[in-house]
Amino acid sequence: MVSRTQIGIVGAGPAGLMLGHLLHLRGIDSVIVEDRGRDHVIDRVRAGVLEQGTVDLMREVGVGTRLDVEGLRHEGIYIAFGGERYRIDLARLTGGRAITVYGQNEVVKDLIAAREHTGRPLHFDASDVRVHDIASDHPRLSFCAAGQPHDVRCDFIAGCDGFHGVCRPTVPTGHLRIYEREYPFAWLGILANAAPSSEELVYSLHERGFALFSMRSPSVTRLYLQCATDEDIAQWPDERIWNELRVRLSTHDGWAPHEGQITQKGVTPMRSFVAEPMQYGSLFLAGDAAHIVPPTGAKGLNLAVADVWRLACAMGEYYESGSRGLLEGYSSAALRRTWRAQRFSWWMTSMLHRSDDPNPFDHKRQLAELENLVSSEAAMASLAENYVGLPLG
Ligand code: FAD
Ligand code: DHB
Repeated sequence: MVSRTQIGIVGAGPAGLMLGHLLHLRGIDSVIVEDRGRDHVIDRVRAGVLEQGTVDLMREVGVGTRLDVEGLRHEGIYIAFGGERYRIDLARLTGGRAITVYGQNEVVKDLIAAREHTGRPLHFDASDVRVHDIASDHPRLSFCAAGQPHDVRCDFIAGCDGFHGVCRPTVPTGHLRIYEREYPFAWLGILANAAPSSEELVYSLHERGFALFSMRSPSVTRLYLQCATDEDIAQWPDERIWNELRVRLSTHDGWAPHEGQITQKGVTPMRSFVAEPMQYGSLFLAGDAAHIVPPTGAKGLNLAVADVWRLACAMGEYYESGSRGLLEGYSSAALRRTWRAQRFSWWMTSMLHRSDDPNPFDHKRQLAELENLVSSEAAMASLAENYVGLPLG
């Protein structure tokens, strides 16, 4: 089946779905193609922290109704080390900005509902997804969906297909520069049916490694433990996980996470990655397709949203006035924000994770960094500004 659209969007994660929605609001047509099933895309357990700018955008573009009811606004976070917890007052330090805990699956669910309401195409379970002729002004998207081959002629293609997608590899060799760092540890994450025992997140550095207390709702706790990159989840029965979390998170004031039935377990690798530029010909990369941050700063999803907001503005300008100015500036502007988030995520990661280096220097330096953070208004303000997120734009 041969068809035509303005923007071909590869990937129905937060980036692809939000882009489709922002374009729709500007009257721009798109086709979204996703190689996984609808349920898989919704059920994948991933991010949970939305920056202030992401929340404001969701409200502004009409996908904030459930977020307003179910999202948990947090005006602070805790940093724990040496058995003590220290609160960082995000709202006070940033003129009232905050984060909202709302699962990525909920964001994706809301965006799919909005897309389906528009009636514009969204193909799940597509196979053989490919992009063609991206060096030209008439790129194409081909795939097979519901047993039917599709060939979609586009003005532009948005590669929103995540780190393992097909778009970035179609850029000819030599046109992308890759900056990458892998970390010698990973996160073991769980979801548990337990009421959160703190109203705010707790990021902890312990001699046995990093641990993070988070949540999804008033009855579901989300927790992470630093583990080995090749960690075998089968070696982690529930009791071992709870023991380790208790040891790493409990503080001298008697605080510890509530325990409950574990409903999901997984290991997440940690990497910093940037592909530059985020454009080649008619192909624009956005979100994890172009960059990955280690999860410690909670930036990945928010960066994906910031990219597509910028891309939608640029495409809007092109269709309204014929000007390619914003499209041409997309990559450098998006990369500026990306590198700010890379710096922050790397800094949070290196401050809070135990290294295997037998030289104790790094651990002492980390403790000094943490002491400096919790005793300096300026250091706390810097963390707060970055954590709640820079304004879009
Ligand atoms: P993705 O969500 O990866 O979406 C890409 C989509 O493209 C997928 O649906 C994929 O199936 C599809 N696709 C792939 N290949 C193809 C193909 N060939 N054809 C068609 N479709 C394709 N970020 C935060 O901001 N805050 C957090 O608290 C946070 N915590 C995290 C915790 C964990 C455990 C993990 C794993 C990640 C976390 N992140 C967090 C990162 C965040 O989840 C990602 O940055 C975010 O999903 C990026 O969105 P995206 O749309 O760019 O990519
Ligand atoms: C969550 C994930 C993160 O990466 C983070 O820094 C904070 C919270 C979460 O899944 O809740």
